[in-house]
Amino acid sequence: MIRSVVRGFGAALPKRVVTNRELEQTVDTTDEWIVQRTGITQRYVAGPDETSASLGTDAARAALDNAGLTPDDIDMIVVATSTPDNTFPATAVNIQNRLGMTHGYAFDMQAVCTGFVYAVTTADSFIRSGQAKRVLVIGTETFSRILDWSDRTTCVLFGDGAGAIVLEGEEGEGTVADRGVLAASLRSDGSHKDKLYVDGGPSTTGTVGHLRMEGREVFKHAVGMITDVIVDAFDKTGLTAEELDWLVPHQANRRIIEASAKKLGIPLEKVVITVDLHGNTSAASIPLALAVAASDGRIRKGDLVMLEAMGGGFTWGAVLLRW
Ligand code: ACO
Repeated sequence: MIRSVVRGFGAALPKRVVTNRELEQTVDTTDEWIVQRTGITQRYVAGPDETSASLGTDAARAALDNAGLTPDDIDMIVVATSTPDNTFPATAVNIQNRLGMTHGYAFDMQAVCTGFVYAVTTADSFIRSGQAKRVLVIGTETFSRILDWSDRTTCVLFGDGAGAIVLEGEEGEGTVADRGVLAASLRSDGSHKDKLYVDGGPSTTGTVGHLRMEGREVFKHAVGMITDVIVDAFDKTGLTAEELDWLVPHQANRRIIEASAKKLGIPLEKVVITVDLHGNTSAASIPLALAVAASDGRIRKGDLVMLEAMGGGFTWGAVLLRW
């Protein structure tokens, strides 16, 4: 049985750090409020020469280096982003070009903060069906470009960045001891579309628009939705939360992460948290967190890892894999 195994990982962050104290100068907020409600102390904000495609390319190069591969070895690129460089062509094709690739195929996925979970699940399906051998899966965002910087209820929450992994098809035994993606669970429910959205778009206003959110409503639904898909992914394999080595959640908010882990009985020592330094980087947050925890030696070969996310739509999902 073919499994999609993580061969390499990489990340890229903009040069500029913006601390909570800096935001105190521009909107009516405080470091204390932001830290207490979200756990965020700083975020990275892209400069004029940094875009979703440039950051995604840097993360992809880092992942290829880490895997000991070159762009020639890749046959598919899937990019999760809600902040593309252009309406079209896809940011994935832009990155393909920046990598000097003219072979293979590349496309974007748009599932907001759940984008990376959707992209890994899609890449895994392409690999297991024999349509691709090695896939670059990238999450890259420049949410700073769609924030209303005068709205304190949203502008303090988000940051920019990119992360990437290389998935490669490998013959496995077909058991839960195999390395690679073991199970996934994806969900969406568009009846929640007005709780977290961007108020512009090519087909409506003809503008890029700004992010709008009913924070309390998002919070109310998040923990239940996240834990449902995690339980579903475990159930598909017969594995349990006790066997998990690492929970790598979408980094929206420390309180959502802690409440989800608590509900599942997963101790915080097994949870990778980067929201304090990165803010919410939407589809980039999981691959950024993976790169941090795999680089510092926390996530090791053979570890059981659960990825999970919830975001605009709502969309939500989880992927269980053995690293
Ligand atoms: N600084 C100071 N005060 C603020 C700020 C701020 N940045 N933002 C809001 N406030 C004020 C509000 O105006 C309100 O004041 P009022 O009582 O005088 O009206 C007060 O703080 C409380 O506001 P709430 O919105 O009720 O605060 P809450 O405790 O719900 O925290 C937060 C807000 C952090 C957004 C929370 O609702 C949350 O985490 N929601 C989840 C949203 C999220 O993480 N979204 C990310 C995208 S979705 C995803 O990735 C999963």
